[in-house]
Amino acid sequence: MLDAATFDSRDLRRVLGTFVTGVTVVTTIDHQGQFHGVTANSFSSVSLDPPLVLWSQAVKSHSHPAFFNAERFAVNILAEDQIDLSKRFAKSSPDKFAGIDVDIGESGVPLLRDCSARLQCRVVSRVPGGDHTIYVAEVLAIDQTEREPLVFGNGRYLLAYPHDLADAALSPHRKQAQLTATRLGARAVERLARRFDETMALAVWGAHGPTITHWEPASAPVSEALPVGLILPVTSTATGLAFAAHLCPEAIAQADLPGQNLAPGEGDWHERLAEVRRRGLARQGLETFYRSETLINALSAPVLDADGHAVLALTAVGEANRFRADLDGEFARALRETARDLSHRLGYETEIPREPVRRPALAVGA
Ligand SMILES: Cc1cc2nc3c(=O)[nH]c(=O)nc-3n(C[C@H](O)[C@H](O)[C@H](O)COP(=O)(O)O)c2cc1C
Repeated sequence: MLDAATFDSRDLRRVLGTFVTGVTVVTTIDHQGQFHGVTANSFSSVSLDPPLVLWSQAVKSHSHPAFFNAERFAVNILAEDQIDLSKRFAKSSPDKFAGIDVDIGESGVPLLRDCSARLQCRVVSRVPGGDHTIYVAEVLAIDQTEREPLVFGNGRYLLAYPHDLADAALSPHRKQAQLTATRLGARAVERLARRFDETMALAVWGAHGPTITHWEPASAPVSEALPVGLILPVTSTATGLAFAAHLCPEAIAQADLPGQNLAPGEGDWHERLAEVRRRGLARQGLETFYRSETLINALSAPVLDADGHAVLALTAVGEANRFRADLDGEFARALRETARDLSHRLGYETEIPREPVRRPALAVGA
């Protein structure tokens, strides 16, 4: 624990950054009719009755005099695809509004379009707060869209997804196993991605089926967009198969997405799952990667908890013309061994036939 005598403002900023927020652009109009806007994540709700909100502004910022003298402002809660707007309003510039279409709200205050939500406010007090001024304001009008909000934390823009581990159907014991597995799994895929320079993903069995929670891109990843929170089909992906081989059919049926053909010939399906169990690996050739035409091969290894349920899948994906997802290659062996080690660390006891450990032959006399 650092006390005030030992932490500096950088330490404090880092700690405060762990408090994840949405992103707003606060806008106003000055007496000359000029628009002002700043990106702010200090916005917070204060009271429902009366309806009050607050935000705080650095006294040193260029637009401080304009906001300090304004009676009205608007809070534009940015949507997940509005990072450009966030960046634009986070830089001092004489005309941040150039080329942007706005709506005009109460008292001429500009309102940004396509936001998640907007609040039009009247200032009720300006409170000095160290190097910031805190504005407390009454909410006069609100509007909202279906657009998902942008998120900011630890100095980065983030996307908001429901917590897949919040599934009430999981027993506390399984939840704990999944959390431990996720932590260990993230480190394991990072090591594998680095060692083999392959793009790796970590998936959990979420409320809607196999869900990617983490990516480790290779130096040339299959795509610029590696979406966290992506829910994968069970039957047509390596990750889905890795889970399906170690989950009961009811769990799969419950989570399966509509429109999936779960039984491409029941016999085939069970054989495929038995094969995955035997090999400790699932392979899927020639999937198209998320929202692209790129053909990929994928290899996935299930991680099992103490009860033998799949809690995690470690998946490698690569462009089909380069990554063959060979089931017997060096990479496949390392992937399988990594998943098995994790399973053992999670308490999975059943003896699984392991690959013979290859050691370099010792030179005679060495
Ligand atoms: C995500 C994010 C959140 C920010 N939150 C605030 C804030 O709450 N208050 C503030 O004064 N500045 C905040 N800033 C910095 C301002 O947006 C930045 O200083 C802006 O350029 C000020 O504009 P101005 O100099 O034209 O007044 C934030 C920046 C980012 C990127």
